[in-house]
Order: sequence, then structure tokens, then C-alpha cells
Amino acid sequence: MALIKHATIEKNSTLLLVLSLLVVSVGGIVEIAPLFYLESTIEKVDGVRPYTPLELAGRDIYMREGCYNCHSQMVRSLKDEVERYGPYSLAAESMYDHPFQWGSKRTGPDLARVGGKYSNEWQVAHLVDPRAVVPESIMPTYAHLLERSLDTGEMLDELKAHIAVGVPYTQDMLDNALADIAVQVDPNADSEAFLKRYPKAVVADFDGDPTRVTEMDALVAYLQMLGTLVDFKVYDAEANQR
Ligand code: HEC
Repeated sequence: MALIKHATIEKNSTLLLVLSLLVVSVGGIVEIAPLFYLESTIEKVDGVRPYTPLELAGRDIYMREGCYNCHSQMVRSLKDEVERYGPYSLAAESMYDHPFQWGSKRTGPDLARVGGKYSNEWQVAHLVDPRAVVPESIMPTYAHLLERSLDTGEMLDELKAHIAVGVPYTQDMLDNALADIAVQVDPNADSEAFLKRYPKAVVADFDGDPTRVTEMDALVAYLQMLGTLVDFKVYDAEANQR
């Protein structure tokens, strides 16, 4: 009996189409609707903080120069990736990325955990002339970043734009934004308040030129913090307790 009814559906293509759409949309709603009611689809993770103004400027240069055309920033949860790059990426690690830089093209290696992997000197030498440190490299040269002073004219507006999309920059962070750039590139400056605002930030004269802040300073500051905010020893221990 039921089969005969089904034959009616199969012989009437319009009816079949309408009923198929109905079935598919029920499936879709069941999958999507709960996401609107969850408080957050991103698991909270200790250590993730907004970018320092210098790192944020470096991130802009990373996008401007098109680094994402060759580099992804997402370690997938596959054995070979985890062994090569380190712990797989967590959603929370890119929660303050607007736009995110996960990427899908890997002409070069993934950069999600490159922070601290090399010295600042190595990063600068590599960007100035990749083949000077990795002879077989096909990466383009970015020596011009050493010549260009960092333009901070739009930094405050940029921070405010990030606040508008939910990044928790505080008034204190806004008030000190430009001073914080100067502090992050000066190892002799008093960086206590800065490091309170942005824990784990790397303070260094990244490009080796103490007389001015260059785009190289910003880009290397950004590279050196990638993937360093979450303490995976603590994170793994907590996850195992659950
Ligand atoms: C045309 C593709 C291409 C572009 C564009 C490119 N890279 Fe690369 N990158 C590579 C390749 C290939 C390697 C591996 C060889 C090497 O280390 O130079 C690499 C390596 C690196 C490494 C070392 C990673 C590691 O774990 O050893 C860093 C850091 C890096 N690139 C940063 C950048 C930044 C920052 C930009 C943008 C300013 C950029 N790359 C643009 C191709 C590219």
C-alpha cells in the first residue's frame, strides 16, 4: 500500500520536487536553527586577546602584500599537520580576526603557529631576501618594508571599527594606542602597563633600526605573535579533565 503511494510521487515529477525540497529544508533547519540559540559557537579559551596596535598594523600589511595568496593560517586536526605545525587551530584563536586569514592556498607553509619559531633577525633577513636564508625558496622579496615608515594615521579609526564588530578594545587601549606602538618597538621603554593591556606581546626592536617604526617592525611583530597566545599545556590538561 505504502509502495503504491510512493509510486504516485515518483511518477509526478512536480510533486517529487516539492516533497524533496521539503525534506531537504527540514534537514537544513535542524542543522542550522540551534546555532542561533547557542550563546556562542566559539569555545572560550584563556589567553586569546585583541591584537596590539602594532600587530594589527602588521596584519594589515600582511593582507596588503597578499601573503595569504601563498600562506594559510589554520592547522587542521590531521596527524601530519599537527606533527608539522603544532596543536591544531581553535576557533577562538581567530575570533578577533576581521577578516580571518585561514586561507586555502599553501604555496608556502601554514603560518598559524609561526610565532617564536624563528628570531626577529631571521624573519627580517627572510623577508628582505628569502633566498639568503632558504636557498630553494620561491617567496618574493619584501625589502621595501624596511624603507617604509609605518603610517599610523588611521590606527584609532581602525581600532574603533574593530570595536564596532565586537573586538573588546577598551578606552584605556584607545587612549594609549599610539604610545603602545612606540613602546612595543623599544626594549628600553617601560612596558609594564602595555603588557598588562596585551599579555604575551613581544617587545623588541624588530627591524634593528631604533630610529623609527617601519612596516617591517609591524609585520614581524605580527608574525611573532601568531599562535602563541593559547598555552596548549594548560588547554590540553583542562580538556582531558572534561
Ligand atoms: C609566491 C608565494 C609566497 C608569497 C606571496 C609569500 N610567501 Fe612566505 N613562503 C613561501 C614559500 C614557498 C615558503 C617556504 C620557503 C621559505 O622559507 O622561504 C615561505 C616561507 C615563509 C615563512 C617561513 C615559514 C616557516 O615555518 O618556515 C614565513 C614566516 C613567511 N613565508 C612569511 C611570509 C609573509 C609575511 C609574506 C607576505 C609579506 C609571504 N610569506 C608571502 C611563499 C610565499
